[in-house]
Amino acid sequence: MTIKLSNRSDVENFRALSILSEVAERRASGENIISLSPGQPCFGAPEAVLAKAREFTQKDPIQGYTAAIGTLPLRQRIARYYKDTYNQDIAVERIAVTTASSGGFILSLLGAFDAGDTVALTLPTYPAYKNMLRALDINIVEIETSKETNYQPTSQLLEASGKKFDGIIITNPSNPTGAMIGEDTLRNLCAWCDTNGVRMISDEAYHGITYETPAQTALKFSDNVIVLNTFSKYFALTGWRLGWMITPSDMAKNVKSLAENLFVSPPTISQFVAQEAFEHTDILDSYVQQYRANRDYLREHLPALGFSDLSSAQGAFYFYVDVHNLTNNAEEFCRRMLDEAHVAMTPGLDFDPGRGDHTIRISYAGSLDDMKEACSRLQSWLG
Ligand SMILES: Cc1ncc(COP(=O)(O)O)c(C=O)c1O
Repeated sequence: MTIKLSNRSDVENFRALSILSEVAERRASGENIISLSPGQPCFGAPEAVLAKAREFTQKDPIQGYTAAIGTLPLRQRIARYYKDTYNQDIAVERIAVTTASSGGFILSLLGAFDAGDTVALTLPTYPAYKNMLRALDINIVEIETSKETNYQPTSQLLEASGKKFDGIIITNPSNPTGAMIGEDTLRNLCAWCDTNGVRMISDEAYHGITYETPAQTALKFSDNVIVLNTFSKYFALTGWRLGWMITPSDMAKNVKSLAENLFVSPPTISQFVAQEAFEHTDILDSYVQQYRANRDYLREHLPALGFSDLSSAQGAFYFYVDVHNLTNNAEEFCRRMLDEAHVAMTPGLDFDPGRGDHTIRISYAGSLDDMKEACSRLQSWLG
């Protein structure tokens, strides 16, 4: 007798992660691949942070659970970060440390929406959102953005869509485009959501990795917004699986109970390590300068190879490229690139089912040498 599987678990795989594991397997079998695919820094935590990790495990070999929403000193440190970075006073009760921002997403979606509610995603978008929403039986409406609005939503775009929704997820800076939402646009988006009773979730995972102007937090413009952030990107603690969320005051109690029941505690050692990471922003900022050098190199060299329609890449470490001049099947194109040129990129379908057949995401989170070698290989491959 076949026993049923749930319908809601039948979500699409996360293609970018499949590429990550394929690249790892092919490298293990000796293939020399340059990957412009991964969404993670090529740098590890600063040495002083790793030294603290060793010290903590020696001092406390048990490493038991912490409070479900994280240790008080780390939450206080995060509050200070909001004061220093954005001049925002955030009550520590509103801060929950989470198992990376992915864990924070589950808490946010459960804290804000019921099954059957509707959440808007603006395309192109980070692929896991739709799959998390589907797994939680939350309906999705998709709103296409374009170059005209820097691939980001505006209040006019939401209004003009005529669509009804209970919530919206915005990503600033964006994965996959690196595009940022300007301060006035963000203020208007927050006001539009408040006026229309729409709960905004602002994914601020790439804050700190910006090249022209610092990103603004949506917390500045609304008390109703849920903000998610992570130690995986700017703080280069990707595998330590730690992030945080700022909840509206009236949601904090429910999020705490959910966190207790769903996760018991975020990773203990990671919390001590993350607290130390705040003290080494000089090194973390030097990583950002290296991403900037990569971005500038690619921006100069990719157009001559045919990758000319590049997104604005004001933050994060991605270009999103319209490659309709090269292919109308980005997936097959990326596959051939991997097989023949040994360069990995991420086809756009994950980010935008409608237009992803002719778009590609290029990550420049690697080394400058990798950027140069990738361009040289592509030049030979594309002739
Ligand atoms: C926009 C965005 N949000 C969230 C995440 C999830 O990151 P983590 O779970 O490591 O915090 C990612 C990872 O790539 C991302 O790009």
